[in-house]
Amino acid sequence: AWAAAVGQRRVLLAEPRAFCAGVERAIEVVERALEIHGAPVYVRKQIVHNTHVVNDLANRGAVFVDELDEVPTGATVVFSAHGVAPMVRTHANDRQLSVIDATCPLVEKVHAEARRFTARGDTVLLIGHSGHEEVDGTLGEAPGRITLVESAEAVGSIEVEDPERVTYLMQTTLAVDEAEEVVDALKDRFPAIVGPGSADICYATSNRQNAVRRVAAEADLVLVVGSENSANSRRLAEVSRRDGTESHLVESVDEVRLDWLVGADTIGISAGASAPPDLVAALSDALAGLGATSVSTRSIGTESIAFTLPKEVRRPQGG
Ligand code: F3S
Repeated sequence: AWAAAVGQRRVLLAEPRAFCAGVERAIEVVERALEIHGAPVYVRKQIVHNTHVVNDLANRGAVFVDELDEVPTGATVVFSAHGVAPMVRTHANDRQLSVIDATCPLVEKVHAEARRFTARGDTVLLIGHSGHEEVDGTLGEAPGRITLVESAEAVGSIEVEDPERVTYLMQTTLAVDEAEEVVDALKDRFPAIVGPGSADICYATSNRQNAVRRVAAEADLVLVVGSENSANSRRLAEVSRRDGTESHLVESVDEVRLDWLVGADTIGISAGASAPPDLVAALSDALAGLGATSVSTRSIGTESIAFTLPKEVRRPQGG
């Protein structure tokens, strides 16, 4: 059936794309925990929001649970890259679980700010999407003192204790352009509002958005590899569409529909920060299998950031 879409085609790979440093670290934490403790190693929530990553680790002995009640007393549990509310840490302690925390350091930075700002008496307005695990974790830092703001339209109805003492923070995986609109609305409503010390939207999120926009500008179609529940993957498809280019989020090449490819002479490809790079290669190879295809990269720069592992799974230095 793929033959129907055969033709001369250009494939443009957005760079950077796929795994970020926080996701690589979180996966490595589970791998090391399996090496050290043997299976099963329990993981609270999906370690990162990607079906392939989760299935692969599950096959190797990771057991994913929704809540700590499902973990046997005294067992080892890994907290996912998205972070947890302090209440979850207390719960783990009560259950005598040994915790290995794979929270991304850039998510932890937002938690630290939430603690600092609420401790000095500010109302914190957290820009983010309701129901996302990262947002649940950050809100949990100071229940009742942090209010979720989902859109610029929602800003009008926010109630705060003292408009002179308001701070905003953000989920790490927002669309940069959308978040700016919300911040502008907040500044209009609360002129004294203060932002985070440095950007909360992480380097990986903003780099992937900039790179996919570069590709979208040239492409007829942008395919984004990533899972439906991956916030930053969804943002990549959305920013491409906002730039006027048809875009679809796919788990893998298997979900690509041939009718999308008809008339698409130039196809851009990116992948969310939780998506494995080999799925991108498989997609690009499949497109090349359709006939004469040139594959090139459009780069906005390379990333060199890496995070150290939590001490529980760190290998001894100099060994
Ligand atoms: Fe961390 Fe950003 Fe990746 S917050 S997990 S580096 S998408």
